[in-house]
Amino acid sequence: MKLRKMAVAMSAVMALGAIAVPAAAEEGTQKVGISMPTQSLERWNRDGSWLDEKMQEAGYETILTYSDNDSSQQVNDIQNMLADGVDILIISAIDGETLNTVMDEAAEAGVPVVAYDRLIMNDAVSCYVSFDNYTVGQLQGEYIVEALDLENAGDATYNLEITAGDPADNNAGYFYNGAMDVLNPYIEAGTLVVVSGQTDFDTVATDQWDTQTAMERAQNILASYYADGTQLDVWLCSNDSTALGVAQGITSDYAGDNTVIITGQDGDEANLANIKDGIQTMTVYKNVNDECTFTLEIAQAILAGEELTEALCESSEIEAAYDTESYETSEGNACISYLLVPTVITADNLDYLVEAGLYAENDEGYLVSVDSVE
Ligand code: GAL
Repeated sequence: MKLRKMAVAMSAVMALGAIAVPAAAEEGTQKVGISMPTQSLERWNRDGSWLDEKMQEAGYETILTYSDNDSSQQVNDIQNMLADGVDILIISAIDGETLNTVMDEAAEAGVPVVAYDRLIMNDAVSCYVSFDNYTVGQLQGEYIVEALDLENAGDATYNLEITAGDPADNNAGYFYNGAMDVLNPYIEAGTLVVVSGQTDFDTVATDQWDTQTAMERAQNILASYYADGTQLDVWLCSNDSTALGVAQGITSDYAGDNTVIITGQDGDEANLANIKDGIQTMTVYKNVNDECTFTLEIAQAILAGEELTEALCESSEIEAAYDTESYETSEGNACISYLLVPTVITADNLDYLVEAGLYAENDEGYLVSVDSVE
């Protein structure tokens, strides 16, 4: 195995024009490559450092990279990991469509790949571990239905705007569809009105989940459709970085005196503060510690040569569904997926995050992420 890897490794680095000597590894110590998309979105800092910590505690050597939301940088980072002789790759793709070259090199080198949180559209993926992304969106939609009591709205109507995620991120479509499948019946009935008329995914999507981009689009919509005193009741946001931008836009450019319901996802610190202060209404929390622990369990199974089956769910302390239908890495090729369970967080249950050992309350009473987890 090592010889084949060295051969592929040298061809990879020569193709890159760099000369790299694979890091010397203690004989028998297996090496895990962890490729995260960026540090500019808060959650990935937790994913990266907690995966790194857990893999090392389990006795593996690790290489951790963050690729600044630059797909070509991520390809380069992963090729360097292959050149360094990793035994398995844990990858959260910046763009699930752009890793074919390095996925083929991993397959050629016999290095298994776990698609972490975001699916990679390549059949070389060994398995996918995430949360049920469609459910994340459903929870956001259902929260809006309950908060506005839409089932009993009668003739009342409520004005809604929508901000979705990065179209390059395979998850973004699932979040959007999950929420819109809940909300569309109310839009079609006229109970929910999207005043801007902007409802299709491509129009409401946000490149790289960027906060500034989300804020500027919200400001444009508010100036164009709400400056005449039209009330805005709710803004569906697929995650916290976009919700932060929308909340900034509402604060600066919405003249109404009502509290606008704003949804989110991830439990970013700034958004948890906004939830405590009543600026954001909810976030869907995905327990990154559980996702990292489950990923370790998957890696251990793969490196031990075990088959990836439902048994992993039964042996784990973490609740996860074994799914072989929902996610395809290519047309008709379903991927083995392990889907964890997301949680709705509002001002009423912020303490859940502290009790789960994931956040601590600072001197000002706001939640900050812990550095290290059990
Ligand atoms: C998604 C991820 C979400 C969201 C977004 C921004 O793929 O599942 O948690 O935060 O990326 O990083």
